Amino acid sequence: MFQQRLVSPPALTAPSVSCQPNRVTPPREVIEVLPSLREAVSQLDSDLTKVSVQSELKALLFGNKNWADWIATLPSPVSLKPIVLESGIGFERDDEFARTLLVGLALSLQPENFVPPYSVGNLAVTEVIAKGTATEYSHSENDLPAPPHCAGFFEPVPPQVCFFTCIRPHPGGGAETTVVNLERILEFAPQALIEEWENREYQLRTSRRLGEQVLPFRLLQNVNGLPFLRYRKEYTVDFEQTRALCLLEELITHPANHFIVPLKAGDTLIHWNGSPHSRMAQSGSTPVEIEARRKLIRCRSVPQTGWAENFHQ
Ligand SMILES: [Fe+2]
Repeated sequence: MFQQRLVSPPALTAPSVSCQPNRVTPPREVIEVLPSLREAVSQLDSDLTKVSVQSELKALLFGNKNWADWIATLPSPVSLKPIVLESGIGFERDDEFARTLLVGLALSLQPENFVPPYSVGNLAVTEVIAKGTATEYSHSENDLPAPPHCAGFFEPVPPQVCFFTCIRPHPGGGAETTVVNLERILEFAPQALIEEWENREYQLRTSRRLGEQVLPFRLLQNVNGLPFLRYRKEYTVDFEQTRALCLLEELITHPANHFIVPLKAGDTLIHWNGSPHSRMAQSGSTPVEIEARRKLIRCRSVPQTGWAENFHQ
């Protein structure tokens, strides 16, 4: 590590932009139409990975005036400020409606996007819950703090926006999800360091499941008018030997540079995937009963056109 810290603590305690997410409360008009939406959604094919089903779902939701009017009022997820949609629209329990509506919410907020399946399980919506067999790298299956990382870091094309719905928080507290405040980091970092993040060729190594392939990637670039930081320390080659990466790590792991987002049951966090997310330490032990453990459900969204090209080398 470095004798001389580039990042001085006093500067980090003086935020220049707010570290609070945009909070949205579902209005009564939307809560009132949930029973009819539940009924309509239940008629759809349950395979949410099909593009045709996603189109039907989007049409069905936009066909409901209360839903469409509300969606028009929501902030865009293509922003460095995360959004928290507070509980009330049916995400308080994990059932088929909640999973379908999560996809529907993603498609409603960005009608030009689709929700791709996860490679493991081939599902549009998957869950985050501690399992006894997980490794320290499986953030979605362990109960450890998760360092900042992008979703789909070593996939050929990472997703654009992440959606996490809290079904149950950890009963002992803690385990908050955080999103890196990239605007703050880029305001604070020296220009020469930013240029190194943008211009240097970095390499990633895919997971064992994906063959541990070594591939070049761009750490920081402008995508859709926003900075996209493709970050995951444990899969980046020679991380500890690269000064620009270690300095980035200092900034990206500092709590003052995070939106800290405690999620209660039914809350949904929506954020730009170019701002990495992480999980803080939980307080106390993981419940023995799986039904009592912290649980999130999640999906990602990707523009249907023009997105993959951003990630070609
Ligand atoms: Fe994650």
